[in-house]
Amino acid sequence: MPQATFHFPHGFLWGTATSSHQVEGFNRNNNWWAWEQEEGRILHGHKSGAACDWWGGRWREDFDRAAEGGQNAHRFSVEWSRVQPLPDKWDEFALDRYREMARGLHERGMTPLVTLHHFSDPLWVSEMGGWENEAIVEPFVRYVRKTVEALKEYVTLWVTINEPNVLAVSAYLWGLFPPGKKDMGTTLRVMVNLAKAHAAAYHAIHEVQKTARVGIAHNLRPMVPTRSWSPLDRFAAGITSSLFNDFFARAAQDGVLRLPGRRIRLPNGAHTQDYIGVNYYSEDLVSFDIRRPADLFARRYPPPGAALSETGFIANVPQGMFHALQWAKRFDLPIIITENGVEDSKDTLRPRYLIEHLHQVWRAVNFNYPIKGYFHWTLVDNFEWERGWTQRFGLWELDVETQERRKRPSVDLYAAICKENGLSSETVARFAPELMEKLFPE
Ligand code: FCB
Repeated sequence: MPQATFHFPHGFLWGTATSSHQVEGFNRNNNWWAWEQEEGRILHGHKSGAACDWWGGRWREDFDRAAEGGQNAHRFSVEWSRVQPLPDKWDEFALDRYREMARGLHERGMTPLVTLHHFSDPLWVSEMGGWENEAIVEPFVRYVRKTVEALKEYVTLWVTINEPNVLAVSAYLWGLFPPGKKDMGTTLRVMVNLAKAHAAAYHAIHEVQKTARVGIAHNLRPMVPTRSWSPLDRFAAGITSSLFNDFFARAAQDGVLRLPGRRIRLPNGAHTQDYIGVNYYSEDLVSFDIRRPADLFARRYPPPGAALSETGFIANVPQGMFHALQWAKRFDLPIIITENGVEDSKDTLRPRYLIEHLHQVWRAVNFNYPIKGYFHWTLVDNFEWERGWTQRFGLWELDVETQERRKRPSVDLYAAICKENGLSSETVARFAPELMEKLFPE
């Protein structure tokens, strides 16, 4: 059996990613908590409850787990509703807590990457119309300024907004996230407001901290026309992809918002990302379907033959990671993989998924793509939005009742990768022997 190691660049960031509402517990003052109390909103009526009890202090033991697993970075988010519970009230205790967490990472030899908005809004923001109301931009920037001021001693890497594309369509087009709307016009208005909020936040962060590196965690879903020769499939894949994948990244590049049939220039929008954050989970095939005007005539489905995750949410398409990185490279900026992972309570697919995706990252590194880090979603099972606790993305399993953590095999797999700063044939042979021939052919 050939022996080899796929090495990663010196100083590569290896971590996991989390978000406040999904791990902290008892975020009673945001729109997600309220949404969870409404019947029929969350699968099986699940609630975030204590989540992973990070607000109760368990972030410490989980950061220990990450550090022991060789991780040298971690991505977490600050909860706006904690920092600013009311428009005219700041909670200094909450800010201190986040400072403690960021310091806690440094003490463990880990670099923090902090997300300032990850899907949840304070209730008072929802009451003023949330992201539909352009007036949200100003308070968002005030919150960002306050938070960056508080954390700047420990943090220089920032995500302004997590997956603005997913937030806009899930909350305003598909009705899955609060406020549960299903309207294309509203969705486009929300996208414009999110882009404005990002641009303004970018400048505010740089005003507070000269050394900041600021980006967006883009959810990148490559869309491949089913029949590459078909102009209709290409059309459907193209418009869906340009609106879903390109809108925010291009807006942050040249300050132009490209809406269907219309362009808006954002004067402060150009050059407002210092790196490209990529959240990649899966890739879609797209066929033109005349019966789906609301989906921009696109029927999306996983490539045939790709292994599906436990609830069918994610198809294992490692090649799509390469496509996502090809997309990211066009922007000529450093690239950070801000999320990637799979839901798998039994850990039967995860080892293979992880190895094959990192193999694609390594390929891109060898084509000199400027990839600076990889954050696996996620460290410990956490509350998966409208899917509740049905999807288990953790390296560590969480018993929601007892808060007990149990090790999945992928804990040791990821630790081996992080510690070696590479993926060796020995590790692959140990955790996914079925991949040996494919990755290390004789
Ligand atoms: C991403 C979200 C993250 C988590 C993963 C599975 O879209 O950013 O919070 O839910 O999906």
